[in-house]
Amino acid sequence: MNSVSESFKNNPLHFKHIIPLDFNTTLTLPDSHTWPLSLEPIDSLTHVQHEALPVIDLTNPQAITLIRQACEKWGVFQVTNHDIPVKLLNEIEFQTKRLFALPLNQKLLAVRSPEGCTGYGLPRMSTFFSKFIWSEGFTVMGSPVDHACQLWPHDNANFCNVLVEYQKELDTLTEKILVLMFKSLGLTQEDVKWFKPNNESKPPQAVLQLNSYPVCPDPSRAMGLAPHTDSSLLTLIYQNNTSGLQVYRDNLGWVPVKPITAAVVVMVGDLMHIACNGLFKCALHRALVNKTHTRISIAHFYGPPRDVKISPCLKLVDPDHPILYRPVTWKEYLDAKAIHFNNALELIRDKNNSGCTHL
Ligand code: OGA
Ligand code: NI
Repeated sequence: MNSVSESFKNNPLHFKHIIPLDFNTTLTLPDSHTWPLSLEPIDSLTHVQHEALPVIDLTNPQAITLIRQACEKWGVFQVTNHDIPVKLLNEIEFQTKRLFALPLNQKLLAVRSPEGCTGYGLPRMSTFFSKFIWSEGFTVMGSPVDHACQLWPHDNANFCNVLVEYQKELDTLTEKILVLMFKSLGLTQEDVKWFKPNNESKPPQAVLQLNSYPVCPDPSRAMGLAPHTDSSLLTLIYQNNTSGLQVYRDNLGWVPVKPITAAVVVMVGDLMHIACNGLFKCALHRALVNKTHTRISIAHFYGPPRDVKISPCLKLVDPDHPILYRPVTWKEYLDAKAIHFNNALELIRDKNNSGCTHL
């Protein structure tokens, strides 16, 4: 069993936190989904003054420097010229739309079990809030075949082929970006021994998450995905051409991650933030919804191999940069996240430096 399934099995959910609303038949925002918010429309002009999020062309000779700057400042950026075929991006978008367009009772044939981590349902963060989020998801780890057969007993080959191809391409792109990130910090293979691209004997662990944010009758008071950071090393997100994803920057507030055709969003996860001793930010992000367009996104979470302890790289520790975190495996970190959500990172702070005595 891998780290993600093991952690989710130990932290089961109630079905009320798994089964989404039937968004197709819900014409007004129910109280259960009304957040104490008054959000501005997503594309309102107030965001124009914001410093724009970096967009990095991976073929640019300066890409390494730009990546380091983006990670230190934002913890998120977009990449172009990444070598993922546009055709594959269009295909995964098509298959994601096809899945979420199914009637709710058909999607529920592939519902996630309370102890499980794959299948159809609400994102796991739902347990931490008294209000429900306006989105639905479908999670895949490894082969998508079992759940795809539940959804489409006779017509799932295209769906499976596209997902498998996408997982493979995204593993490769994530590893390529990680190599650039480590290089940008002056780290060598010796410094990050646990990271072995293309390693078949101890493979990395990855989760593919298809997300749908249906049109919403009252978007100013609904939340698509509540503010969070990702538990992964890196998350790569492909979004359709509908706005909604935002990242938080101190002093700037929520900044939109504008959809760019065929670009991929790169999000630094908590484990990468730990591995580089806090030098790279892990971006707090959220997703908002809108009244007219269904937004879809495909998030690929990449984590270390099972049982690998991630700890701050010693080359990045010195008297001015004391060690910030204790070593953790992905499983241990997911367990902490399942209980403490956005406080998990604080709980693994190195006691000797933060004065924190929680664990
Ligand atoms: C996630 C996430 C963002 C999006 O799945 O963790 O942040 O745009 N998704 O859907
Ligand atoms: Ni996220």
